[in-house]
Amino acid sequence: MRNLLEITDFTTQEIDDLIALALDIIAKPEKYSEHCKGKKLATLFYEPSTRTRLSFVAAMMELGGNVLGFSDAAASSVSKGESVADTVRTVECFADIIAMRHNKEGAPFLAAQYANVPIINAGDGGHCHPTQTLTDLLTIFREKGTFDNLTIGFCGDLKFGRTVHSLAKAMGRYSGVKFVFISPNELKIPDYLRNELTRHCGLDPQSHKQQEIPAFAGMTETNSLENAMPELDILYMTRVQRERFENEDDYNRLKDSFILDIEKLKTAKKDMIILHPLPRVNEISTDVDNDPRALYFKQVLNGKYIRMALIDTLLRTKNKEQRTKTDEFVLCEKCKNPRCISSIEDVKPLYKILENGEKRCYYCDN
Ligand code: CP
Repeated sequence: MRNLLEITDFTTQEIDDLIALALDIIAKPEKYSEHCKGKKLATLFYEPSTRTRLSFVAAMMELGGNVLGFSDAAASSVSKGESVADTVRTVECFADIIAMRHNKEGAPFLAAQYANVPIINAGDGGHCHPTQTLTDLLTIFREKGTFDNLTIGFCGDLKFGRTVHSLAKAMGRYSGVKFVFISPNELKIPDYLRNELTRHCGLDPQSHKQQEIPAFAGMTETNSLENAMPELDILYMTRVQRERFENEDDYNRLKDSFILDIEKLKTAKKDMIILHPLPRVNEISTDVDNDPRALYFKQVLNGKYIRMALIDTLLRTKNKEQRTKTDEFVLCEKCKNPRCISSIEDVKPLYKILENGEKRCYYCDN
């Protein structure tokens, strides 16, 4: 079954095709207004959302399809203890495609093992958020016309910021991209992502084996936004993810680590673009909003178009098999990450073994 669980499930060619389709939808929306007539999208949101859920709903409506689902798991039978596996086996009786957001890392990967309809990961805990990445890529492409040879600075909560993890993986597949990760020490990118980027590697969507990335320009980790600013073509700001902290004092200590304002932008390139997946708390001062480089609300609109392209593509894909197979993964001891879906559901503990021998949980990448 063709799903979008993580961004590397799609090759760079397939992402180019999605972007081309999104651009055609933007140019000729009427051509697509009945593309999904008679089809239903289920949005299963176990965690709050404004942009992702509503853009999925708007996307399906503009394709002529219908939407059902829940935006609060407490109002569904999840509150009675129903598992993800049982929920998707129920919902697939009513829908042709499912978009799932969950607070536990890897929940959509588990859902895909049970569903006979495509599963789209709409954000799983602090792990990944591939449709936000498609949104970011469409925005970058519309502004820069390329993904190659760009320097991208990610700033803020890089530990729990799932949009950062997915976009870094995606950008790591293009030539000459340089990463600058700007965060407090406590909120640096996860080890697995650092390993993946420093090995200049990505995951082959077909086999989950490593494939070389042609020309990876480098990676820097710093806690100075000021020092990084003049180098950047893209500044990707993120919120400190309060909901992922175990300790409120830690959140309060770190929440104001970086606040972008007009003064700090004085040393930035004139054509640097400022992205943010939103919601914003206070990490971008509102005086930045009128700067032509601030694209975060354009990003929101791009999110609808690229989700239209994604839904249309997944619903048109002819699948050879029904449920997603996990035979190639190794059965192993239970994952120790308390944020992994395996910590609350009865799942097969599965691991990917990378070519360098590194072992990662299939669900959460830890
Ligand atoms: N960018 C994003 O995921 O926003 P929401 O949490 O509002 O969906």
